[in-house]
Amino acid sequence: MSEKPTDYNGPERVFSGVQPSGSLHLGNYLGALKKFVRLQHEHDCVFCIVDLHAVTVWQDPKALADQTRHIAAAFLACGVDPKKAIIYPQSRVRAHTELAWYFNCVARIGWLNRMTQFKDKAGKNSEKMSVGLYDYPVLQAADILAFKGTHVPVGEDQKQHLELSRDIAAKFNNDFDVPGFFPLPEPLIQGPGARIMSLRDGSKKMSKSDPSDLSRINFTDDADLIAKKIRKAKTDAGVIPETSEELEGRPELSNLIGIYAALSEQPEDKVLAEYAGQGFGVFKPALAELAVEKLKPITELMNRYLAAPDEIDTILSSGADRADNIATPIVAEVRDIMGFWKV
Ligand code: AMP
Ligand code: TRP
Repeated sequence: MSEKPTDYNGPERVFSGVQPSGSLHLGNYLGALKKFVRLQHEHDCVFCIVDLHAVTVWQDPKALADQTRHIAAAFLACGVDPKKAIIYPQSRVRAHTELAWYFNCVARIGWLNRMTQFKDKAGKNSEKMSVGLYDYPVLQAADILAFKGTHVPVGEDQKQHLELSRDIAAKFNNDFDVPGFFPLPEPLIQGPGARIMSLRDGSKKMSKSDPSDLSRINFTDDADLIAKKIRKAKTDAGVIPETSEELEGRPELSNLIGIYAALSEQPEDKVLAEYAGQGFGVFKPALAELAVEKLKPITELMNRYLAAPDEIDTILSSGADRADNIATPIVAEVRDIMGFWKV
């Protein structure tokens, strides 16, 4: 994280968001949460529970607040320390929606038309989707830039949204002749967990919205269920090869090796060296054991937090105040730059 974004001389800040919709899975853990924990020790970090993004598709009003607590509990259980990092719900800080509106007037329709995630989510029904779902990446840019976020730990699927954030930041700086006012946020994607695939189909990412629960390992799954899902994970008929090159064309195996490497924090080559020549009868139980060993303490801790919602609410509330103190003055500066009336 040494490379400073162009023209920007302000402090570095890590910002990321997770939606409070559906339950968290192994992809979220390896692609995002595990990185959050590491980053908080060296950087100023802001981790937002993006409930405004969640409501771009229908959310039951009776469940939304609890879903937010659920993500907070997962952050805490993974080891995000609220004394170090800021954890808060997006809807509690008005700067997000305000800056999103200003950015709506900076971003171009053509830019949004290129967003593949909208196309994937909307499919053939784009006319029936909410305007919010279409505008989702603009709000995401506002999230990051309301904090002048310089580095954004996310999974591979967010790469295009991050490019849009950079385009919006650059266009704002340019249009209003304020070079370096906004940083051009850098995605932090690298690492073995950046793209965890479905256990049922190695060409699809592991996702909350996959109708098959067997496709993903959820934070809430118990040891038996995790073992069952790994046992049933799609594989081919071969054995574990010796080199990564030989994983080519074997997406499901490649995914399982990647998960093992990410969970055990060792390079894929080392995992392959350990299991080369073995069949899945040996590898799958080893992977299941490793997954349970890593996830069980998180699930237990998460349940303990969830049993104390008041504690979570106190953390979220003070996080929101701290977040507000950072973002509100930045958005006030944006208002000045854009020339709005003030007394
Ligand atoms: P979401 O649940 O869509 O709000 O995603 C939260 C974070 O998890 C984002 O940084 C995503 O990029 C990341 N993520 C989601 N699915 C995966 C996956 N299958 N592999 C790696 N990272 C993922
Ligand atoms: N779009 C992200 C996802 O679905 C969530 C998100 C919203 C986010 N705002 C963000 C991620 C800002 C990083 C930074 O995973």
